[in-house]
Amino acid sequence: MILGIETSCDETAAAVVRRGAETLSNIVASQIATHLPYGGVVPELASREHLRNIVPVVRAALREAGITFRDLDAFAVTNGPGLAGALLVGISYAKALAYAAGKPLIAVNHLEGHIHAVLLEQAQLASGSDAEPLPLPALALVVSGGHTHLYLARRHGDSWTYRNVGRTVDDAAGEAFDKVAKLLGLGYPGGPWIDALAAHGNPYAIPFSFSQVKAKAHRREDPTGIDARSTLFSFSGIKTAVLRYTQIHGMAESIEVRRASLGASPTVAEALSLCDQQTLDLIASFQRAVIDDLRRKTFRAAEMHGVNSLFISGGVAANRELRVRFTAEASDRELPIAFPSLALSTDNAAMIAAAAWPRLLGNDFARPDLTADPSLTLGKAAAQTADPL
Ligand code: KG4
Ligand code: ZN
Repeated sequence: MILGIETSCDETAAAVVRRGAETLSNIVASQIATHLPYGGVVPELASREHLRNIVPVVRAALREAGITFRDLDAFAVTNGPGLAGALLVGISYAKALAYAAGKPLIAVNHLEGHIHAVLLEQAQLASGSDAEPLPLPALALVVSGGHTHLYLARRHGDSWTYRNVGRTVDDAAGEAFDKVAKLLGLGYPGGPWIDALAAHGNPYAIPFSFSQVKAKAHRREDPTGIDARSTLFSFSGIKTAVLRYTQIHGMAESIEVRRASLGASPTVAEALSLCDQQTLDLIASFQRAVIDDLRRKTFRAAEMHGVNSLFISGGVAANRELRVRFTAEASDRELPIAFPSLALSTDNAAMIAAAAWPRLLGNDFARPDLTADPSLTLGKAAAQTADPL
């Protein structure tokens, strides 16, 4: 049994997972209310909130699992990527717990955690049924507020290797959702608001589009000869396009009214009543364009690398339209696809404890000088350099 701790951004989370396959508890303390007035995560406030929450959250995870520290085999903690101060709270506490309990500590890359959210639930489904595990290798799209990455994931016995075959050259997709929601006077985080309101607009009203990211792809250096440019993402342009649309169409006043009228925790009905049809069409068109781009490049990468399944995880994977579109295309192509449940799509510690299980089997433990690595990467990168448009 592993106790996982996750504090890389704005959720303080702890969970107990048995054998990387059975979630005994999964506690998440959200900081949304703290960051809401600022329309985004304030790093210093995030660290302070983690400090306040970490002890009660870990205690709650043990209590819900019905165990004590003595019953654990190891501790696992996210060591990057993320906010340095936020990561350090989890790392310092996990180190102290592991030292005091005399148990090993395992460092987990947050991005690997998101991939293991899918594997954890697949293992849960498979136990007690004759469901087939997803065929490998898999292509994993990790799409969140901080990341838009494509990885080839392979299993070798108990361990996993990853190769980065696609990434954003500027903003992450979740960041685009958050920034567009903010500029339209909607709440934070923006993804769930766009998701809820887009259902009421015409997704084809405004023809936003993405062109291929200009890149110097060193094809000769890539032994596969694959053109890496076609799986690069860029989401900063669409945010500017939405802003220009609001300026050209004189929407500033209605945006300010909405911003001023939406209370601290509005309902979808309240937000909807403050959006005219033009705004709803803009939201739906923005969401369609982002999802189309994610879908096209993900399936292109799946084809280029000849994978046998797709894993889609991270906060944006909670998006309903994204799930519908990806599932439809995967079904057309007869490619197995898996998403985590909504609770495991966004940041949580069950995915960290699950990703640590293969490490425990391989005695791959953190050194005593473990520290935060805010820009930690996952796996080997495919050869590609990029100039954003
Ligand atoms: O994985 P996550 O909890 O944290 C990071 O590692 O970034 O992802 C949070 C991101 C935010 O940008 C949020 O707006 C987005 O995921 N998100 C969504 C939805 N739910 C959360 N984006 C689109 N649709 C959603 N339903
Ligand atoms: Zn995340």
